[in-house]
Amino acid sequence: MARNRVNVGIIGFGTVGSGTARILLENAEIISKRAGFNVVLKKIADRDIVRDRGFTVPDGILTTSADELLNDPDIDVVVELVGGIHPAKDFMLQAIANGKHVVTANKALIATEGAEIFAAADEKGVEVGFEAAVAGGIPIIKVLREGLIANNMVAIYGIINGTSNYILTKMTSEKADFGAVLKEAQRLGYAEADPTFDIEGIDSAHKLTIIASLAYGIPLSFEQVYKEGITRVTAEDIDFASELGYKIKLLAITKAVNGQVEVRVHPTMVPNDYLISKIDGVFNAIYVEGDAVGSTLYYGRGAGDMPTGSAVVADIVDIGRTIISGGVRRASGISGAGNTYVIRAMGDIESKYYFRFSALDKPGTLSKISGILGKYNISIASVIQKGRSASSSVPLVVLTHSAREKDVASAIAEIDELPVVVQKTLVIRVEGKE
Ligand code: NDP
Ligand code: HSE
Repeated sequence: MARNRVNVGIIGFGTVGSGTARILLENAEIISKRAGFNVVLKKIADRDIVRDRGFTVPDGILTTSADELLNDPDIDVVVELVGGIHPAKDFMLQAIANGKHVVTANKALIATEGAEIFAAADEKGVEVGFEAAVAGGIPIIKVLREGLIANNMVAIYGIINGTSNYILTKMTSEKADFGAVLKEAQRLGYAEADPTFDIEGIDSAHKLTIIASLAYGIPLSFEQVYKEGITRVTAEDIDFASELGYKIKLLAITKAVNGQVEVRVHPTMVPNDYLISKIDGVFNAIYVEGDAVGSTLYYGRGAGDMPTGSAVVADIVDIGRTIISGGVRRASGISGAGNTYVIRAMGDIESKYYFRFSALDKPGTLSKISGILGKYNISIASVIQKGRSASSSVPLVVLTHSAREKDVASAIAEIDELPVVVQKTLVIRVEGKE
């Protein structure tokens, strides 16, 4: 008789594990109607199987033993949702060794250890699903790997960390305090176990590593991604940005420039008339430009139990289709073989810049600063100085035309040594036309 069910085991019954289990249980009927087979949640392993997750799990599903699930011959797909590197990686490799397909939302694991996991899966002839690892509920992996397969990628710009976007949005619209909003994001289940991953750009860099690999065929290159988070952005910068017609967003950018690939994450001033500047709260958005398709934009919730669970279940069903049909498994799309791209050194990128100098309000200060900028070929587009103070520093904001990162770094290092500059200068890269 033809097979009509796929059995699933989940390890990790936290935020995403709960969302995934709830969707599999509550939407079982619609999923099986669409898929043409039943997706059966057979086991869930977690250290804590007592805590109330807000919905009912049928008897006999919960276990504290991941091994019980990994060694169950009836389980076809193991879903890793514990997070971190170990034991998550060990669970994945053990499942693969046992001939099971695996699904994960763990971008840190895929970005840093993915090569070994994909190699193990290739050898065993099983699939690794990682749709939920990037941008929560937005099916961006499917877009890059399937929908836009025909394109040479021109550029990708993403807001791909929900927590940082939530913080920046609340700082902008409600003048909220950074620390208080971060706590709220943690309470809502958006933040990573270590929230510095969110606010220091590391989580975005994990996701960008995966995006860049799929888009440009380069190997997973997390170490080479430039990473800068939002912790130095102040309410004052948000106000200056607004006055200049911009929003500050944590952008993840990858683009092809002169045969090289840029991969960088940093706070960015985005013009108010760009759609991506309007993406607020926990929402993510990814702008993808391909040579054939032109501009496309993908928008949705980037974190949280149900949106991320939605992406996990999509992978389970896709893998289920392969299992049921006995068809050819999907290629991961992650490979560097035969690709000539190199990653562009950060010093070589070109951008416009926002500088906030903390300078003494004395005659000659601006000319000293502008003299150094001129020396490094950095041309000023506009200047704002707010307030007056005979004794302390005032913020002096400069917006530049396009300049080279290397020159900017040298100029700022020299300016920060001036006796009239009392604090390290804040630098934010600026998007938009000249
Ligand atoms: P949680 O901390 O909420 O859930 C992880 C669960 O796994 C916890 O219940 C934890 O128990 C359990 N666990 C940890 N170690 C083990 C173990 N050895 N055996 C059994 N259970 C274990 O994390 P999230 O659900 O938020 O995140 C899971 C993964 O999904 C991470 O990789 C994260 O990066 C990713 N992700 C998260 C998103 C989100 O919005 N939260 C969105 C997209 C991806 P205990 O609490 O006791 O440690
Ligand atoms: N901590 C992540 C975020 C979860 O805030 O975007 C989704 O990957």
